Amino acid sequence: MITHPSYTVEPWRVREAALHLDLLPQSESVFALSNGHIGWRGNLDEGEPHGLPGSYLSGVFERHPLPYAEAGYGYPEVGETVVNVTNGKLIRLLVDDEPFDLRYGRVDRHERVLDLRTGLLHRTCEWTSPAGRTVRVRSTRMVSFTQRAIACVAYEVEAVDRRVRVVIQSELVANEQMPRIAGDPRVAAVMDAPLQPEEDFARDARLRLVHRTQGTGLRVAVAADHAVLGPASTATSSESAGDTARFTATGVLEPGEALRLEKLVAYGWSGERSLPAVRDQVEAALAAARTTSWDGLLKEQRAYLDEFWGGADVEIEGDPEIQQAVRFGLFHVLQAGARSEERAIPAKGLTGSGYDGHCFWDTETFVLPVLTSAAPDAVASALRWRQKTLPAARERAAQLGLRGAAFPWRTIDGLECSGYWPAGTAAFHVNADIADAVVRYLVVCGDDRFERETAVELLVETARLWRSLGHHDRAGRFHLDGVTGPDEYSAVADDNMYTNLMAQANLRAAADLAERHPEEAAALGVDEEETAGWRDAAEAMHLPYDDALGVHEQSAGFTGHQPWDFAATPPEQYPLLLNYPYFDLYRKQVVKQADLVLAMFLCGEAFTDEQKARNFAYYEALTVRDSSLSACAQAIMAAEIGHLRLAHDYLGEAALMDLQDLEHNTRDGLHIASLAGTWLVLVAGFGGMRHSADGWVDFAPQLPESITRLRFTVRVHGRALRVELTDSVARYSLADDGEALRIRHYGEPLTVTGGTPQQRRVPRRPERPEPRQPAGREPAARRVPKNP
Ligand code: BGC
Repeated sequence: MITHPSYTVEPWRVREAALHLDLLPQSESVFALSNGHIGWRGNLDEGEPHGLPGSYLSGVFERHPLPYAEAGYGYPEVGETVVNVTNGKLIRLLVDDEPFDLRYGRVDRHERVLDLRTGLLHRTCEWTSPAGRTVRVRSTRMVSFTQRAIACVAYEVEAVDRRVRVVIQSELVANEQMPRIAGDPRVAAVMDAPLQPEEDFARDARLRLVHRTQGTGLRVAVAADHAVLGPASTATSSESAGDTARFTATGVLEPGEALRLEKLVAYGWSGERSLPAVRDQVEAALAAARTTSWDGLLKEQRAYLDEFWGGADVEIEGDPEIQQAVRFGLFHVLQAGARSEERAIPAKGLTGSGYDGHCFWDTETFVLPVLTSAAPDAVASALRWRQKTLPAARERAAQLGLRGAAFPWRTIDGLECSGYWPAGTAAFHVNADIADAVVRYLVVCGDDRFERETAVELLVETARLWRSLGHHDRAGRFHLDGVTGPDEYSAVADDNMYTNLMAQANLRAAADLAERHPEEAAALGVDEEETAGWRDAAEAMHLPYDDALGVHEQSAGFTGHQPWDFAATPPEQYPLLLNYPYFDLYRKQVVKQADLVLAMFLCGEAFTDEQKARNFAYYEALTVRDSSLSACAQAIMAAEIGHLRLAHDYLGEAALMDLQDLEHNTRDGLHIASLAGTWLVLVAGFGGMRHSADGWVDFAPQLPESITRLRFTVRVHGRALRVELTDSVARYSLADDGEALRIRHYGEPLTVTGGTPQQRRVPRRPERPEPRQPAGREPAARRVPKNP
């Protein structure tokens, strides 16, 4: 494990106390700012050195051919990749004759702080040029939550001990030179200079560039405006040509004097609108931001985040690292989804180009549950995006010979982009994951319009898929054969438990909703016979069980496979997918990521407590966690079963995935699902929160030894419920004085109000033998500092 020596542990900030150039690619992801519409990686203001330059707009992508050595029917032929759009954060500095570049001269101090309460990224640096001129540089960067087209930078340079001439160049740059893309040259050809110039403009302090993506024809406009504060002698100029627009401020600074630049940047894009229309769009956004002013934008950002934290914060006593990490995670989950507005929320958010900027089931299964409580509007809009992509999903289902909709495994605009069908097309569970997110949103937020306009259609089309994909055998049992569950080390298997249970819930929910909204259902062609067919399939769903071992089978026949030889697998051979053929992984008992264990969390009522404990122990010994989605699911079930220390260890892995770069790929972007999973472990794991089929919200809390207190607020039936836990007591109260709310604590019904909290004892769970992991794959033990 790499522990980052320079991130200090603080409750509300991530502070990098010194610059480590070798960690730059990672810190660019950690310090990325986004509102779900615009994403700016945490690149240094001056652009270089860098790991990966990154400015993204949700939904701006390019297409390229998907290569196959041997093609086959129904293989997706077109891939999609997120585009690095015009960089609006760039501010270069010349100090006398020297470019301000931290690879040269002497860095006396360099600090970056991401403030999770204000939503600002601050940088302070003291640098002496090779010629001996010392300057202090301070910058503050923000991507606005309240004005979604706006991002801004305040940049200040101060002379320290000698008079210096400084030149600040604030730029917009399109088609930045990128590190070389390895792999398919056809992808590189498209992505090398993806933006074609359409217009450049510079006048006074105003800049603008308009470009268009070549293949997808998306028009991207970026405009900037500047305010300069500096000595009277400061001179300014501006110019533009093709891919660059530049505003320059030049001044001579006496020691202690500073030159400050405030840069407002507006982004807009469209696949439909004309050049004048998109140009006007960014100019209008800029005009609004100018009127709000720099200070006004900062205030709006703070107010937005105050409200967010008021309903979403989690307080932990006893583990300061996790305290910081859960807030860091919540902040990034918010950034990924807040203003994505009917576009995909990618697995990396807008923090990097990893996974080509694609959205996976990560969104519905890990990210949306958190946003359902913390920012429900973002959930409705993410699911409306799925609805918008239904035409493509219906077409894909038809191509596969199926009914209803087959949503893509990975995509940006709704088309299937997975070139590997055993872990793409066959992973049909994404359809049930979408249905699950729809149902959760309705239960928690109750949104009639969404229910009629979006939920019915999404549930009906996904139910149709399951009904046509599966079949009843001679004994009447319903099977879903040849599918891939969450565990990608098994593929094209029959009756994957996770898929079957999630599909069962999908079929039942679709039938219920169609009956509640007969008109909407009829408009989609649903009749009684069809809903009866869904109910029959759900009732008859086959759930494979190994009687001899007394455990459920991850899929039919799984427990009869040869066990993987863990003892003969050296640590450097993980992740296994990079070192062993899928052919071998698929035919042995080895689990990449929680699959049946995740099913026990999401469909817990299908299992008895004893089954859960036995299944957990069995699959724990086979699970290697080669996916960042695994640790949080294992933590939740470990907590439910009573393995609290293990749950705490897994919590550490999920929470610190990016702050400690545990998978050595944070440079490609953050693991948003794992960050969301941190919240899930605290609320659903240690808080034991579950939505039961009978409509109750249940809590069965239990804290690990070193976490002495846990407080969180969750949305329950549209209300904000405050939960406070110690090792022996749970307290429940409402954040407001409205109507009382009914919940259950360990099965006991409670009436909760905004007054005195309901207080109940936390019972001790039975001790169980500690489960074992595959040799060498144990999670790192959480070492909590004694005196934080
Ligand atoms: C996991 C998938 C996940 C994807 C994106 C893969 O390694 O196995 O479950 O959706 O990463 O995070």
